[in-house]
Amino acid sequence: MKFIPHNKPTIGKEEIEAVINSLSSLELTVGTRIQEFENKFSEYMGIDSISTSSGTSAIHLALNTLGVGRNDEVILPSYTCVAVAYPVLYQEAKPVLVDVGADFNIDLNEIKNNISERTKAIIVPHLFGYPADIQEIREICDEKCIFLIEDCAQSIGAIYENKKVGTFGDISVFSFYATKLMASVQGGMICTDNKEWIENVRDIRYHDQVCSLEDMRMKYSYMMSDIDAVIGIEQLNKLDTFIKRRREIARIYREEIVNVEHPIELQHKKHVYSRYVLKTKGKDRIIQDLKEKNISCTTMHSHPLHRRKLFSMNQQKYPHTDDIIASSISLPIYPTLEDEDVLYISDTLNKLGGSV
Ligand SMILES: Cc1ncc(COP(=O)(O)O)c(C=O)c1O
Repeated sequence: MKFIPHNKPTIGKEEIEAVINSLSSLELTVGTRIQEFENKFSEYMGIDSISTSSGTSAIHLALNTLGVGRNDEVILPSYTCVAVAYPVLYQEAKPVLVDVGADFNIDLNEIKNNISERTKAIIVPHLFGYPADIQEIREICDEKCIFLIEDCAQSIGAIYENKKVGTFGDISVFSFYATKLMASVQGGMICTDNKEWIENVRDIRYHDQVCSLEDMRMKYSYMMSDIDAVIGIEQLNKLDTFIKRRREIARIYREEIVNVEHPIELQHKKHVYSRYVLKTKGKDRIIQDLKEKNISCTTMHSHPLHRRKLFSMNQQKYPHTDDIIASSISLPIYPTLEDEDVLYISDTLNKLGGSV
């Protein structure tokens, strides 16, 4: 019986040829293809873009560019990838963790309850490809003069009321890590319509970028390589097809799997299903039993930020985050997963029975 992995990058002959051509050209770093990828990404998003070495470095450069520093607070969800929180500490700011809602995204009321005079920015990941309440969060940020950073690492192509996520924030960040919707192996992107911020990122993402001898800014080694860029270009060409297939798989799961809580998808938000995460009873047993049936499933972000000493400085409760960890399972979902695999996974899950 074949093994069904939890995740699988979709790499075709186009990406392989692009890498061979890139290596043959000997333009490995800081070459012309990076600019080409940035231009294509800007076209896709309808907003200026600048590449980075990863999603984490993109968040770091965004916080740095917005002037977030010591004595500032940054609000972010307790339930997310840990990479969202580290850059806040790199800038010596304080992460303020807030609980999430039933859709796995940061909770609007929790944001309101945790804003203080020191809040300088809010980082909003659109988790698993599903848009957060981004318009409402935008309005709060405008009212309170707080910077909004959208984290689209898991959600490129997702739409909130006819507008792509990543176009609501002051700055938005993306990741092209191997498990993402489009993968360049490693890599990230920053989008913003503020040209000065783009130029600042360009200046500080590379330590050898000399602007002037008077320049007092710290610089980093956060450049994307040309090899990442050429893979990224090919993946971006295929992104719409990838999303279409992911949504098709999600539709089958939704129709076939019974007695579980499927992911929320409201009319005004388009999910791109970077993950298909459902809730069920007895998830640890089910994950183990699925493994015995050659299906790899997992609980995403199983060590939430509020349980990590480095980030959590209070005794606040995060009941929704804890409930998600206790009850959620992430099923395989990727473009090359075949219908027969999706049906096999659904059928096996139904037989194991979970119920909510
Ligand atoms: C929501 C979120 N933000 C940021 C990151 C960091 O991206 P990278 O792995 O490219 O540094 C990830 C994933 O890894 C993520 O899922």
